[in-house]
Amino acid sequence: MPNLRHNETIDTLLNRRSIRAFSSEAIDEDTVATLETVAQRAACSQFLNDWSAIKITDSSIKQKLSEIGNQMYIATAPLLYVFIIDQHRNAAIAHKNGVDTSSDEFMLKTRYRFTQAQNDVILALHAMETAAESLGLGCVILGSILNSRTQLIDILNLPEYTYPVLGLAIGKPAQNPELKPRMSANMQIFENTYPADDAELLENLADFDNRVHQYYDLRNASRPVDAFSAQILAIAADDIAKKHEAEDVEQVTRQGFNVA
Ligand SMILES: Cc1cc2nc3c(=O)[nH]c(=O)nc-3n(C[C@H](O)[C@H](O)[C@H](O)COP(=O)(O)O)c2cc1C
Repeated sequence: MPNLRHNETIDTLLNRRSIRAFSSEAIDEDTVATLETVAQRAACSQFLNDWSAIKITDSSIKQKLSEIGNQMYIATAPLLYVFIIDQHRNAAIAHKNGVDTSSDEFMLKTRYRFTQAQNDVILALHAMETAAESLGLGCVILGSILNSRTQLIDILNLPEYTYPVLGLAIGKPAQNPELKPRMSANMQIFENTYPADDAELLENLADFDNRVHQYYDLRNASRPVDAFSAQILAIAADDIAKKHEAEDVEQVTRQGFNVA
């Protein structure tokens, strides 16, 4: 077995786990500025800078997002961001310089650019998350705020060519959850080509199922979580995904992107 190398950055990443309870302590403005600057430093596709983040300081908006996500810790997060795909700013630049942004020739609204911008959002968000962790703060990424894209877009007043991707809640941890297990590397990290044989992919599944089943999620600490396989089966048959998919197509189109 190789010995992992350690330094502060690696240990920050290795000890990362989602934090879902925060102390009410406010985050000082130097820390906030540091986190925002780190996010801006992330790589971005074709240097389009096609993401933005909205810092939610209004407690009534936090409350609304928390209701959409059905997660109370969204309302109590001392620092809360919603990261969005943002071609609106670039469209304004193009429009100012004579480009007809409503025409099909305006390429920044294509599905391809949408996907690339989504990648950029994630890189920026992850940089912010890692920086926050390195300063002793805790974070949770929030897909739940997309439970109603329609409401979220309206609440944030998102204009054409923007789209919400994820939230990030940050604060001083008020809990100390154990690290959630990960599958063995040979099930997830391959060499040169994808394994031809599924048996290889699933080789250590029983062990992983068992380790996940033994993990206690502090959201429901009275019972162990389901085995990984059981979670996959439940999500594979989940009707909510269908509803999200339909709303996504409708809302992405409403925001002006060509995703058809
Ligand atoms: C894209 C994405 C969306 C997520 N959305 C939520 C969320 O809405 N609420 C939540 O409590 N955790 C959310 N999480 C956190 C995951 O549940 C968590 O990362 C996963 O269970 C692994 O646990 P760990 O982060 O503690 O290692 C999200 C994570 C990702 C990457």
